[in-house]
Parts: sequence; C-alpha cells; structure tokens
Amino acid sequence: MTDRIIAIADGRNAKALPQSGSSGEPGTIRDRLGRQIRDLRVSVTDRCNFRCIYCMPKEVFGPDHKFLARSELLSFEEITRLVRAFKRHGLEKVRLTGGEPLLRKDLDRLIAMIAQIPGLDLTLTTNGSILAKKASALRAAGLKRITVSLDSLDDRVFRAMNDVDFSVSKVLEGIDAAAAAGLGPIKINVVVKRGVNEDSVVPMARHFKGSGHIVRFIEFMDVGATNGWRMESVMPSAEVISKIDAEFPLQPVDPNYRGEVAQRWRYRDGEGEIGVISSVTQAFCRDCTRVRLSTDGLLYTCLFATQGYDLRALVRAGASDADLAGAIGSIWNLRADRYSEIRTAETASLRKVEMSYIGG
Ligand code: GTP
Ligand code: 5AD
Ligand code: SF4
Ligand code: SF4
Repeated sequence: MTDRIIAIADGRNAKALPQSGSSGEPGTIRDRLGRQIRDLRVSVTDRCNFRCIYCMPKEVFGPDHKFLARSELLSFEEITRLVRAFKRHGLEKVRLTGGEPLLRKDLDRLIAMIAQIPGLDLTLTTNGSILAKKASALRAAGLKRITVSLDSLDDRVFRAMNDVDFSVSKVLEGIDAAAAAGLGPIKINVVVKRGVNEDSVVPMARHFKGSGHIVRFIEFMDVGATNGWRMESVMPSAEVISKIDAEFPLQPVDPNYRGEVAQRWRYRDGEGEIGVISSVTQAFCRDCTRVRLSTDGLLYTCLFATQGYDLRALVRAGASDADLAGAIGSIWNLRADRYSEIRTAETASLRKVEMSYIGG
C-alpha cells in the first residue's frame, strides 16, 4: 500500500495516513492479525489534578509542563463525528478517559451527544476526585457505568501515590455517589507497584467484598517514557491472586466476552468477584480490539505506540463521513501491534506516548 501524507502541517509527531480504498464492508474490517475494532477510548483532556507516580510524575509534569491549548483539543462535535465513523466498522464500546476526564468543561454535553448513537456501551474512567459532585449529572446525560481508579485505602499510601496529598475519603464518597446515581456496579482500578502499595491489595479486596463493586488489580506497566518502569517494580497478578486467595478463597470465572482485559475471579463464598489485568506477565494482544483517540485527535492503534495518525487534520480539512470511515479502515487494515507480547528492557525505554494524553 502506498503511503500518502495528507496533512501533517503542524509539526505533530504523526504518521502518514495510508491511502483510503481498502476499508472493507461496514463491520468487517480486520487488522493484519485478524482483530476487529470493538472498543474506542477517547482522551478528552491531557490534564489531571493528580500526579500519580506511575503516570504523571511531578518531575516531568511540573508547573512548566505545557499542556495542549484549547484550540488543539477535538471539539465535542468532532469527537462525536469520529465516534460515528468508528461505529461504521462495528464499534461496540466507547470509554472516555484522560488525563482526568471530569476536568473537561461541560463533559455531560459530550456524553449526551454520544449517548444518542444507538448500540454503544458508553463508560468513563475517572480518579474519582470530583465524582461526588458530578455523578448524578453524568447519569442524567446518559452515562451507563463508570470505572474509578483508587490505589490504596491507606491514606498515607494513597497520598504518596497520587502525589498531590489527596485523601482516600473523597474518592470513597465519589464511589458512593456514583452508586447512588445508578452508575454501579462500579469497577475500581488498582495499579499495584511493588514496594509501594503491595500491602494494600488484601485490605482493598476485603473492603469491597460483598459491595457489588469489582476491584481490578493492574500490573504496573511501562506506558509512556517517563514513569521509570522496571520489571522489579511489577507485582505479578499470580501473586496478587495467591495473597487474596489465602484469606478469601477464590475460583476462576470465564470472561464476559472474548478479549476481556481483566481475568475474573469469584469469591467462593458468593460475595462477588475481583479481576486482574496482567499486561506484563500474560499479554492479551491476541484479542486486542481497542483503538485510542488522543486529546488532539491522533488515532493510536496501541497503548504503547510512538506515533499516531492525524484524524483531526482530516476532519478540519473537510473530510466527509465516508472519507473518515475510509481512513480509519485503511489504518486498521495495516495494524500489526502486539507490544505486550514483545516487551523487553529495550522496548520499555522507547519514546512512547504518555498515557495521560493517549487515554488509559
Ligand atoms: P470493561 O470490561 O468495559 O469494564 O473495561 P476493561 O476491562 O477494558 O477495563 P478498562 O477499560 O477499565 O481497562 C482497565 C485497565 O487495563 C486500563 O486502565 C489499562 O491500565 C489496562 N488496559 C486496558 N486496555 C489495555 C490495552 O489495550 N493494553 C494494555 N496493555 N493495557 C490495557
Ligand atoms: N501501569 C498500569 N496502569 C496504569 N494506569 C495509569 N498508568 C498506569 C501504568 N503505568 C491506570 C490508571 C487508571 C487507568 C486509566 O490506567 O490507574 O486506572
Ligand atoms: Fe491522573 Fe489517572 Fe494519570 Fe493518576 S493515573 S495521574 S489520576 S490520569
Ligand atoms: Fe493492544 Fe497494544 Fe495493549 Fe497489546 S499492548 S493489548 S496490542 S494496546
């Protein structure tokens, strides 16, 4: 396939868009490893009020860090148009992420716009810091469910991990407000970093056992290029499971759908389930049907990509809906990503895009 540069006028680190033309029938598009497009993750802001040590370390994202200007962000209309274009290829789920998505002004308006598109599961991942205030408006706008990140119930540990001295109690209030607003059952993401919050694993399981919410423990990953990732800092999911199982016996459960990121485990006493996300020790690229749209409209075909494709340039150059769907199809046709399967100490130090910009 010939590559053709359509527009990389503004010096962003974008790849040339492939020539349209081989995008296939709606819903039939497959990448080079036979995977379809099912799950779109949209980063609605690259800003965050936390500085989690594994995501936006303070030394890098300090007072002088330049975030994107407002004019660079995709507008809600542009995001919605692109979601519709992805939908033509069989998209089933949209997850709004960031940065911290609830910092984007009037986010409920975007939710209402996407919620109008039939047949889409619409959800959002938040740090929970201002969720108590926003939960009912999000639900009213059409959000169906929500995932909250929370790395420890120990205030000292949590404050050290978010690195802005934010308390656990406010996030717990946010979780309660979301449940009360009908956004439950809620998924709670815990990034486990060896030597930092490994002792928080069992208390976290204990706290949410029987609540109806689902805690998922995520292996610390080498996303981005600034979080100082080392294999020694990863606590393998197998160890997480054995620690919890020793106190609250567990049994494995089948996935809800093919390609589910988390492996599910249920408490043998019937008091709910937990999950583990093992991108490092058990890569799940084979079934990866996820695609990501950065805050400024670059399409990334892998969480660990170094470059994206400039869909914003296409939109702003007046592309039709068919053009957009065609471009997405051609990009997807070329996709061969399987980063987690080929990770090494060398790949970990590549200049990959940051998670706060590409979306979790
Ligand atoms: P639902 O099943 O819809 O609730 O979503 P999910 O299981 O996909 O969970 P979610 O989107 O909340 O993802 C959980 C976490 O898994 C993310 O925050 C990432 O840390 C990690 N993750 C998600 N997708 C990928 C991926 O494509 N690659 C890797 N390596 N990690 C991922
Ligand atoms: N490793 C694993 N998970 C991460 N997240 C952010 N950075 C990392 C990392 N380096 C998680 C957050 C949040 C989601 C968006 O991604 O905790 O739950
Ligand atoms: Fe913010 Fe989420 Fe990154 Fe933490 S993990 S710094 S809350 S975007
Ligand atoms: Fe998908 Fe890339 Fe994650 Fe593999 S590493 S599961 S290809 S996003």
